[in-house]
Amino acid sequence: MENTLLEKTIETITDLDQVYLKPNLVLEPLFDNWYAWAHLISPATAALNIKERHLKIMASYIKNPRIHAAAVRNPKMLGGPFIDYDGQRVDEIAAAIQTTEEKCADLLELGEAIHELNQLLRTKAQGYALAELYPEIPEPLQGLVELVYDLNHQASFRFFEPLLYQTKFYQDALQSFNLFLIDDDDARSFVLSTPKLPDEQTLRVNLPFKSKKIDALFDCIDQSRQYGELKELFELEEQDETLFRNFFTKTPPSNYQRYQGDGVLTRYFGHACVLVETPQTSILVDPVVSYGYDTDLSRYTYADLPETIDYVLITHNHQDHVLFETLLRLRRKIKNIIVPRSNGGSLQDPSLKLMFEHIGFENIIELGEMESVSFDDVVITGLPFIGEHCDLDVRSKLCHHVAFQTGFKVIFAADSCNVSPQLYQRVKDVVGEVDALFLGMECEGAPLSWLYGPLLYEKLAKDKDESRRLAGCNYNQSRALIDIFNPQNIFVYAMGMEPWLKYISSIKYTDESLPIIESDKLLEYCREKGIESERLFGEKIIEYR
Ligand SMILES: [Fe+2]
Ligand SMILES: [Fe+2]
Repeated sequence: MENTLLEKTIETITDLDQVYLKPNLVLEPLFDNWYAWAHLISPATAALNIKERHLKIMASYIKNPRIHAAAVRNPKMLGGPFIDYDGQRVDEIAAAIQTTEEKCADLLELGEAIHELNQLLRTKAQGYALAELYPEIPEPLQGLVELVYDLNHQASFRFFEPLLYQTKFYQDALQSFNLFLIDDDDARSFVLSTPKLPDEQTLRVNLPFKSKKIDALFDCIDQSRQYGELKELFELEEQDETLFRNFFTKTPPSNYQRYQGDGVLTRYFGHACVLVETPQTSILVDPVVSYGYDTDLSRYTYADLPETIDYVLITHNHQDHVLFETLLRLRRKIKNIIVPRSNGGSLQDPSLKLMFEHIGFENIIELGEMESVSFDDVVITGLPFIGEHCDLDVRSKLCHHVAFQTGFKVIFAADSCNVSPQLYQRVKDVVGEVDALFLGMECEGAPLSWLYGPLLYEKLAKDKDESRRLAGCNYNQSRALIDIFNPQNIFVYAMGMEPWLKYISSIKYTDESLPIIESDKLLEYCREKGIESERLFGEKIIEYR
């Protein structure tokens, strides 16, 4: 049945036809055949993720594919380090190990050097001047690091990160992407633990993320282009043409109507993604957007975004808040992108600005805590974001306070975990109360090793690892935020609940899940206090006049 449909569509498109891109075409960004996320772009974190995550998962799979297959089927293991090929394709994974070892040889050398440098500091930096250790820095890192002590005389180092990007350790030839169509929310399995092997429905395109061809492709979402030109642009091999042709349609998309009211319109797109518009300005927070296909669960999709997005706001550097497949698709529309400033060269806190620059984004504005940027009818202030990073010193995280000329004020608190209400009391004393608060209550979170494990020099004891989690606010922490900022509207969001995000979210809630219990309690508290509140799911539109 599907094949007939496919043939029908192909028959109707000729090289001379004007075509549009189908709204359900996925661009899946890859780095060395693995789903690309931020730690695979910055060279040092990429090196350690290849060495300590990818190669180890693949080696474990070829040793025991059936254990992986069983783990993938077990809902309790969702998001774990298991390859999802049903115990099959073992030879291809073995070949992938070899390819990685060859293609990523420089990065593996960098990963090795980082561990050697750490060892050098632990054994030889005993409180004396560090100058004499410089000649002993492993060769790949020479000229790329500064050695320092903290005030307890513990030695460490920082990268000159902009220079690191200028070495052989940043190779955008390792970037590529998959193109394929999806038709339902269940079509994709979890992407972060399984390398991408070829399949018949997927076109692999070997281009770096900065390639302007990506923008040209996505321009065809709303501007038609001759199919023959597109074919040429992507220099397709003959055997790929059938697949490629099917990514296009002659049917134009529906026209987006820009907000024309005199207030502020906010629309929830799922997870932590919110679009805020006035007639002059559009702001998109933590872009994660659903593709367009027939579904029972109503949601906003790419077709519901304005022609240009004036400001993209990024709250923090986690996979569900910096999603390249959405960001690359929107790159051509984004005028400015506002990112939190990192602490400058520490391994666990790569710079988002450098990362975005190297993958082809322009006008990247770094914002620090309590710093503001003013635009036509809006002031955006970065508020401190506390916790949710397993007590690691990660600074590239901000809550965004957005104040419009209309008087409307909103905070996007994302996953900030209010472990210190005194902090937000002090913040409120500066910025005042707000009208609306978007608040993340994923209060269970994965343990430290799930995200940061490959960067650790030593494994942490299980009980300690379990205690340090990527967790947002619980009931008490959320309630304290509400009492401080006194908003009229509370939106619990960033819960990873939307079914179309299963490919990046390893969360499956039941009524007994802690984030559901805690957020239910919060909604009840808000009801008692007469505050309008809702745990967002799917879509939501609110106009503030
Ligand atoms: Fe997070
Ligand atoms: Fe999150």
